Amino acid sequence: TDTALIVVAAGSGTRLGRGMPKAFALVAGAPILEHALRGLAAVDARLVVVVPAGLEADASAIAERAGVAARVVVGGETRADSVAAGLDAAGDARWVLVHDAARALTPPAQVERVIAALREGASAVVPVLPVVDTVRSVEAARQSDGDVLGPIVDRAALRAMQTPQGFDAQLLRRAYAAADARGASTDDAQLVQALGEPVAAVRGDELAFKITTPADADRAESLLGPAIR
Ligand code: C5P
Repeated sequence: TDTALIVVAAGSGTRLGRGMPKAFALVAGAPILEHALRGLAAVDARLVVVVPAGLEADASAIAERAGVAARVVVGGETRADSVAAGLDAAGDARWVLVHDAARALTPPAQVERVIAALREGASAVVPVLPVVDTVRSVEAARQSDGDVLGPIVDRAALRAMQTPQGFDAQLLRRAYAAADARGASTDDAQLVQALGEPVAAVRGDELAFKITTPADADRAESLLGPAIR
C-alpha cells in the first residue's frame, strides 16, 4: 500500500477523568483505541499507533483484538510531538493520514473520502462539519463563568475540523520540519497551510466526534450499545 495511517493515542485523558490515558479507557467494554482500530480494519493503509511510554505492549494486544496489524511507537508531550513520532515510523508511504484515536466512532466512509481526495490530486485534506451553535468570540476568557463577550461570529463562515487529515507525505514532513513551535498546533493541516499550501475540505460526520469529556464517553457508549465483551 502507498498510504500510512497514523493513529495518535498518546494523550493523557485529563478531561475524561478516568485516571488513565484516554485511549485506554473502557467504553462499552473495550478501550477507546480498540473501537478506533476496529473502524479502520478495512482501510488499505499501513497502520502506526502512537501511545504513551509503557503502554506499547497493551496497544499491541488491543490492535490484535481489533484484528489489525499495527506498528506501535511511543508519543510525546504534545499531540504534535506524537504525530512527529508517528511520521518517523511511517516509512516511505506516498500519502499519510493522521487520525485521533479519540474519534473512535469515525465512519470508514469518512476515511475513504479523505483518501479519495488525495488520489484525485489534493495534497492536504481535512474533514469538516458546519458549526451548529451560535458562536461568540471572547474579549477576556475566564473559563465560561465571567467571560467577557465579544461579537457573534457568523457561524455560516465557520467549520469544525475533524480527522483523519490526509497529506502528501513529503508535504507533511516539510510542514513538521518547518514548524518550530509545533507544540502550539492541534491541527496538522494548519502547519501545511502555514507553508502557503492549499488545504481541501471534505464532508465530515457527527459520528467522528472526539471523545473528550465524560459526557462524550456516555454518548459513545450509547451509540456503541451494550458491552461488546
Ligand atoms: O487531547 P485531545 O483529545 O484533543 O487529543 C486528540 C488526540 O491526540 C487523542 O487521540 C490523543 O490521544 C492524541 N494525543 C497524543 N499525544 C499527545 C496529546 C494528544 O497522541 N501528547
